[in-house]
Amino acid sequence: MNERETLKINEKGHLEIGGADCVDLASKFGTPLYVFDEAYIRKMMRVYRETLAKKYDGNGLVLYASKAFSCQAVYRIADEENIGIDVVSGGELYTALKAGFPAEKIYMHGNNKLDYEIGEALDAGIGCIVADAYSEIDKIDAEAAKRGKTQKILLRINPGVEAHTHAFVQTATTDSKFGFSLADGTAESATAYALNKKHVRLEGYHCHIGSQIFEKQSFVIAVEKCIDFAAEMKQKYGFLLQTLNLGGGYGIWYTDEDKKIAPEGYAEYVEALIEAVKAKAAEKGLSLPFLLIEPGRSIVGEAGITLYTVGAIKDIPAVKKYIAVDGGMFDNPRYALYQSKYTPVLANRADEECTEIVTIAGKCCESGDLIAVNVSLPKAETGDILAVLSTGAYNYSMAMNYNRNMIPPCILVNAGKAEYIVKPQSYEDVNRNDVIPERLKKTK
Ligand SMILES: Cc1ncc(COP(=O)(O)O)c(C=O)c1O
Repeated sequence: MNERETLKINEKGHLEIGGADCVDLASKFGTPLYVFDEAYIRKMMRVYRETLAKKYDGNGLVLYASKAFSCQAVYRIADEENIGIDVVSGGELYTALKAGFPAEKIYMHGNNKLDYEIGEALDAGIGCIVADAYSEIDKIDAEAAKRGKTQKILLRINPGVEAHTHAFVQTATTDSKFGFSLADGTAESATAYALNKKHVRLEGYHCHIGSQIFEKQSFVIAVEKCIDFAAEMKQKYGFLLQTLNLGGGYGIWYTDEDKKIAPEGYAEYVEALIEAVKAKAAEKGLSLPFLLIEPGRSIVGEAGITLYTVGAIKDIPAVKKYIAVDGGMFDNPRYALYQSKYTPVLANRADEECTEIVTIAGKCCESGDLIAVNVSLPKAETGDILAVLSTGAYNYSMAMNYNRNMIPPCILVNAGKAEYIVKPQSYEDVNRNDVIPERLKKTK
């Protein structure tokens, strides 16, 4: 097991997260269970915030990309840590506002924001909307006009840097549902379009080149392209870049194929961005813009694990050994979606040698319902507690009720103490919105 700050093996040979014994957590809260270490989340938020403060005179803001894990408690932590957030739907906005998150530090994204979502954002007075299409610029302008307001916006631009985990490629054409492309001229025409609107104020640009990226150079190239573009827009339209949002995407450790970066190590990504912004802005004679970064996965990903109980074990000689757990794609659809890789650990025997190659399967009625394929474990037995590591991002937020399974609860561990931050669902919750039309009601 990769020794990580938030995890350790205690004297009983059990896995601990944030000072809490995972076997105790499983017996107190049941499984499947999402567990988050608050200290790790706070530390990551601080590393980003302090780097912007120290290296960029605080002329910027960290936005937690809350699509990674959205619930009221995580918004409270972000607020206490003095950072902003981004939201991508009315639902995330509602959740943040309900948690008392300050509206002016909320940025809204999305490639197809609905009229009512834009209305809700304007009514709440959120800081900024990132427009992704001409029709959105129109809608924001119209909704702002109705309310007698002027709304700050950024344009999402697509710099044509396609980043992969360990490499990047620059593309001349851009095939993405997100943003206005630099290559095909739509970023320029959208700039001119937005500058002509009365009720929007174009403050700058946003770009997000991808996720789970380790290669700093990918981010640097994107920065250079954005600032080159801003300089061109200054020349052509007199547009002054005030804000530059560089998105998120910093990679995390899922398995030993990934780099393991300590929380402090993520400062290097922000430093690389800052250096590139300073150098390019100086070269182009632009003032330094207010800088935004939007990490999501790196803030909560390694802070979270999922605990399961091992159930049926199916050994197909010379083929595969399946270890089935009481969760599955309904709490973690990422293998089914992208063949994502994870590291499992037997939480009750975390000090034992791995002796077998197994596949962790879920309980859904779907052959592709797998959590981790061909991974090493000690010989697992029914009743063992299995922890899957680095599940804090894009697991709970992507959970669903497939097969009418109940979405597991989330608990937050703080100095060894655990509390619910999302309560367990019941069968009643899963049935809450069902309606039987009168004509289908059972009569006898
Ligand atoms: C616009 C935008 N910003 C930020 C993020 C967060 O990325 P990550 O969680 O990889 O840091 C995403 C993720 O998809 C995104 O689309």
